Amino acid sequence: MNSPSPLKIGVLGSGKGSNFMALHQAIGEGRVNAETVLVASDQPEAGILEFAARQAISTWPLPPSQFKTKLEPEIETLLAQKLKEAGVELVVLAGFMRVIKQPLLDAFPRAIINIHPSLLPAFKGLEAWKQALEAGVPETGCTVHWVDDSLDGGEIIAQRTVPVRPDDTSTSLHARIQEQEHQLLPEVVHQIALSRNA
Ligand code: GRF
Repeated sequence: MNSPSPLKIGVLGSGKGSNFMALHQAIGEGRVNAETVLVASDQPEAGILEFAARQAISTWPLPPSQFKTKLEPEIETLLAQKLKEAGVELVVLAGFMRVIKQPLLDAFPRAIINIHPSLLPAFKGLEAWKQALEAGVPETGCTVHWVDDSLDGGEIIAQRTVPVRPDDTSTSLHARIQEQEHQLLPEVVHQIALSRNA
């Protein structure tokens, strides 16, 4: 039997890209049947772009936007085109700090996932680990969910729990959440790759 072809993924990120690095490593080790065909960022200096370029993966810095939390529809349309041209089947938001709107959602129906650093639906939005710490909850975690037009509100695919320790700072808590993110995201991408071939 022929082995199934790798799921072609496009990754969007705004930051250091540790989730993408973990995903890339998992792909390299054969734990995820996927291939990253494009990495795009709204931050031209972002670590995620630098890392991707060092791995000889195609990168695309988005054109400058006048907004901070979303993209102009024209830029999103261009992004959707770039992803389609690269053959992307699944878009992975790995620390992409802008809300996705209709041009990209329409181009990739039920084919965009996001990793968020809380047990959604709790603590949507920015710095969710700080929100959890301030709320005094005994546990928080991370979530991978399908992306729709709500903020961090799409259907949940999988979650991991992280206990909040009495001596936690926002830095220590975020670091432990990220450890879980780095396992969860590759697992979910692999599951999606498998279900596509089922
Ligand atoms: C992660 O904590 C993720 O949950 C959030 O943004 C952060 C990205 O970190 N959406 P990195 O760039 O993958 O290191």
